[in-house]
Amino acid sequence: MEKAKTVTVVGAGYVGLSTAVALALLGSEVRVLDTNAARVEGLKRGEPPFYEPGLAESLAEAAPRLRYTTDPAEAYDGSEVAIVAVGTPPTPAGHADLRYLYQALETLAQHRVGLVVIKSTVPVGTNQEAKRILGPGVAVASNPEFLRQGQALSDTLYPERILVGAEEEWVFGVLERLYGPLVEQSFEELPWLPRPKALREAVARGYRVPLVRTGLESAELAKYAANAFLATRISFINEIANVAEAVGADIEEVVQAIGLDPRIGPHFFKAGLGYGGSCFPKDTRALAYLAKRGGYDFKLLRAVIEVNQAQRYRLVEKAEAVLGRLNGQTVVLLGLAFKPGTDDLREAPSLEIAEELLARGARVRATDPKALELAKQILDPRVETFTDPLEAVEGADAVLLVTEWPEYRALDWAEVKRRLRRAVVLDGRNALDPRAMEALGYVYQGIGRGRKLSELAL
Ligand code: UGA
Repeated sequence: MEKAKTVTVVGAGYVGLSTAVALALLGSEVRVLDTNAARVEGLKRGEPPFYEPGLAESLAEAAPRLRYTTDPAEAYDGSEVAIVAVGTPPTPAGHADLRYLYQALETLAQHRVGLVVIKSTVPVGTNQEAKRILGPGVAVASNPEFLRQGQALSDTLYPERILVGAEEEWVFGVLERLYGPLVEQSFEELPWLPRPKALREAVARGYRVPLVRTGLESAELAKYAANAFLATRISFINEIANVAEAVGADIEEVVQAIGLDPRIGPHFFKAGLGYGGSCFPKDTRALAYLAKRGGYDFKLLRAVIEVNQAQRYRLVEKAEAVLGRLNGQTVVLLGLAFKPGTDDLREAPSLEIAEELLARGARVRATDPKALELAKQILDPRVETFTDPLEAVEGADAVLLVTEWPEYRALDWAEVKRRLRRAVVLDGRNALDPRAMEALGYVYQGIGRGRKLSELAL
């Protein structure tokens, strides 16, 4: 058998760490380089730097083949492949900030790694720029990642596709070998991250995970196109939900009806408060900017972004419509994380909703099963935080469900009602059953379902 490759992963964020753990589990020797010393020290002690299902167990399992360092020499010495997965956060102007990427490339240029793989989401043209920085003798591949937070490891181990953009045949060869176990799904599943049943059955019938080969620019654009399309689906269904609200239809029923058309499909069609997180908001803006810079006005994408922004405020407007003036009223936010399964607050709708409620004079309380500690550092200090949702609702005037944590579905809503001063629930994620809530005596509205706003009366 071929000797396992030594791989350096640059950046111990969601993408970098998931990749590092996966490759180590599959048999590569992996060094993880990060400039954040506290993060590296924590990882050496086996502590995950963020919450992600199965990460702690996987770090422990892969520990013999994982090394963490802040020292580039230690990270790159003897390494054949470097996978760059540093952050590319948005600048205020809307384009991707490539500072960390360029820092990583400048450092790499001083070491001898023959293949540099860019996994960070980067504007089209960045891989060519990387080639110029790294100089002759170093090959560059674009290898965007499609993992979702909250399922980062499972998406990495059981991907729907692997995308490799490159210009040399040998580069495709190296990455096909590196990712071979993922393509063939030949490794044993982890007890805490079982292989999805459909994939297991398909593999048994001879299925292989597609590894798509493209040029550098196509791989870069495909990543943006995927996120822009998914974001478009969300803004589209939110607009249909807003229409449903106006005319008295139920968005969940509409989705069920249209989702059966295989050209449309039922997935990624949950109406709510709009998309948040570290990817969609950033990547939609970056693609619009990229298009504009290229002389093209991407009107559809601009509208997607605008609809998403407005969607967050609708919940506040609804609260005001139901309660009257918000001034002096106590409003509880159930959930702060941008989605369940993560403690990430980047571009979380909760933050803007809390700000807007405060601006309109409301007293704001908030709770979240995972993101509370982080939230305390970010939220306006006037927001009162609670670990126990039942304590948070005591004597309050309205509950806004912001993140659809399973815990909130499972709440004892009869008990919540006894504690509230006014039984108002505005469900920003359609997590609750409108009929059950009304039967309990709540004034309830979801997004595009439940009663029309004009019919809601206290
Ligand atoms: C997203 C993509 O799903 C990944 O494929 C991609 O790799 C990743 O961005 C990235 O570019 O790194 P992620 O941001 O972790 O992953 O989260 P999603 O689960 O896609 O959710 C994004 C946002 O859309 C969340 O705020 C979620 O609440 C919202 N959403 C999602 C909806 O409002 N409705 C839906 O039907 C689905």
